[in-house]
Amino acid sequence: MHQKRNLPFKIENIDSLGQGVSKATDKITFIPKTLPGEIGVARILAQKKSVQFAEVIQISQPAAERITPDCIHFNDCPSCHFLHTSYEMELKFKLLNLERLFSKIEHPSINVIGAVRRNQYRNRLQLHFDTKNKKLGMLDAKNQQIAPIPQCLIPVDSVKKELNRLYQDNNWLKMIPKDSPSQGHLEIYERDGKINISVNRPYADGGFTQVFHEMNLVLQDLIKNELNSEQNTELIDLFAGDGNLSNNLNYSKRLCVDYYTKQVSPPFFSVDLYGENGIKMVREALSNQKNFPQILILDPPRSGLKNFQDWLNTLQPQKVAYVSCDPHTLVRDLLPLDSYLIKGIHLVDLFPSTFHFETVVFLERK
Ligand SMILES: C[S@@+](CC[C@H](N)C(=O)[O-])C[C@H]1O[C@@H](n2cnc3c(N)ncnc32)[C@H](O)[C@@H]1O
Repeated sequence: MHQKRNLPFKIENIDSLGQGVSKATDKITFIPKTLPGEIGVARILAQKKSVQFAEVIQISQPAAERITPDCIHFNDCPSCHFLHTSYEMELKFKLLNLERLFSKIEHPSINVIGAVRRNQYRNRLQLHFDTKNKKLGMLDAKNQQIAPIPQCLIPVDSVKKELNRLYQDNNWLKMIPKDSPSQGHLEIYERDGKINISVNRPYADGGFTQVFHEMNLVLQDLIKNELNSEQNTELIDLFAGDGNLSNNLNYSKRLCVDYYTKQVSPPFFSVDLYGENGIKMVREALSNQKNFPQILILDPPRSGLKNFQDWLNTLQPQKVAYVSCDPHTLVRDLLPLDSYLIKGIHLVDLFPSTFHFETVVFLERK
């Protein structure tokens, strides 16, 4: 069995997963919930050939930027990454990581749009359960442990109330169907002012929605300000969900494409955009139009859109808004940028307290 070993660390920087990076030993070590300059002792949790993963045991030299987290679960919960420092520092780490990823591409300076608040924003919360061990909470992928979070600070009030109710007297156990496997997941979500709970259903049961209402409005406005100048525009919205990013725009024609859309009538259209016939099917859907749309909006899941260049070559839009929740796949997809110029990059923080954020890149055909 793997022996847990202690090692000294000194944090040099924060990586894109919000972890401190130490090079104090022969292997690079990733240690969550640390800050640059911090020195201490960590315990190794897992090792690979040239890197290892560890957790803090003791910090002998804390950074000046360290603060006491507001959330009592922060040390044990894997879902928030930055509550041990201020929100300004969190945004700084996010920006540094985005700048590092974009260093390969010529681009204008990145505009940062911070969240209107750091807590009480999530309108849906996904929790893992284990009925054998009577545990409900956030799953740590590194050790498969579930951290209970009855006092979690990030959900909106209505979701939080439901969270409290579920934890009270293990009420959540009553929600798990008898034929469910002992381990699974449960989602609390607010839709149209009503609280719902789904068990072992795909996440975002009932269709995808952005988790932070006010910041979603900011995201919509950003796209509107950039793309809404022409009234008679034809546009295509890929990975459109319920059309969230294009509903407020002026257009003469619109096609919204999403595999899991709940909307069944035009302009909504269900296509597997990752399927080998994705481009062909969208082309066919556009075939009754004289021109292909001048505007392309896309907002894929974290895996991005590997054949983005083929989409650009096929549709040849004048303007593009690529909205991404994973900057690694975004940068991969943007290269090479032969026929397009980056007109703007915006870091929009829809997921404060965590390492996640949205990046919006506006492209214009040369
Ligand atoms: C990040 S969400 C964006 C949704 C929407 N733009 C919004 O702002 O609410 C990604 C969307 O991709 C859709 N999706 C996932 N896999 C897909 C696939 N293979 N083909 C088409 N759409 C897919 C999901 O249903 C989801 O609506």
